[in-house]
Amino acid sequence: MASQVQGTSAWINGQRIDVAPGETLLLAALRQGIDFPNRCRVGGCGTCRCRLAEGEVRERTETAYLLSEDEIRRGFILACQSVPAGDVSVEVALGAAAPRELAALYTQIASFNAADRHSLTGRFDARSAAELGAMGFPILFLCGADDILFPVEAVRMVQAEVAGSFLVEVNDAGHSAFLEQPVQFNDTILSLLQMAGHVGTGGAVHSNTAGYVRVGGEG
Ligand code: FES
Repeated sequence: MASQVQGTSAWINGQRIDVAPGETLLLAALRQGIDFPNRCRVGGCGTCRCRLAEGEVRERTETAYLLSEDEIRRGFILACQSVPAGDVSVEVALGAAAPRELAALYTQIASFNAADRHSLTGRFDARSAAELGAMGFPILFLCGADDILFPVEAVRMVQAEVAGSFLVEVNDAGHSAFLEQPVQFNDTILSLLQMAGHVGTGGAVHSNTAGYVRVGGEG
């Protein structure tokens, strides 16, 4: 007899939902009409944090960088990164939704990635700070001042190790400064390109809130 893959059940604030095999708590809840708070859906913003009251989950990514020690001790998890390992019970502040514009932003970013990033393979050649500093071209670190994935304090420490590099901290921006503050982002990149000699300083150059940079008469 063919084996049958069984899903599990989850109780969200006491309301029962089905969770398909391999499905995250967040997607199962949204699929069944629960207005579960979320924003990025990739473990990057912390909006979907909730408390695991009963049961166990398998976490798809390391969540300790978003949850405090106290939260982890109290059983908090990220619903978008948690796949139930059996029946579970979860408590969450429903209705504590992210600002609509940010939810739309992160949903759009997630839609760019057709591949399942959890099954990606590949090689990442690490470079030392000394090697980076010796490459002979300007290196820019650009960081959102409110970024919780790569906090500005950590970026400052790395930048200090790379000889001749620059650091720009973008106010009122988190992890997606290029979308949250496009004018400042574009102006910064433009300055870097001018510094590297890839863009002249004489052309008509401007950035706008749609996030475009135009150089000279192009475009
Ligand atoms: S929705 Fe952003 S961490 Fe889960």
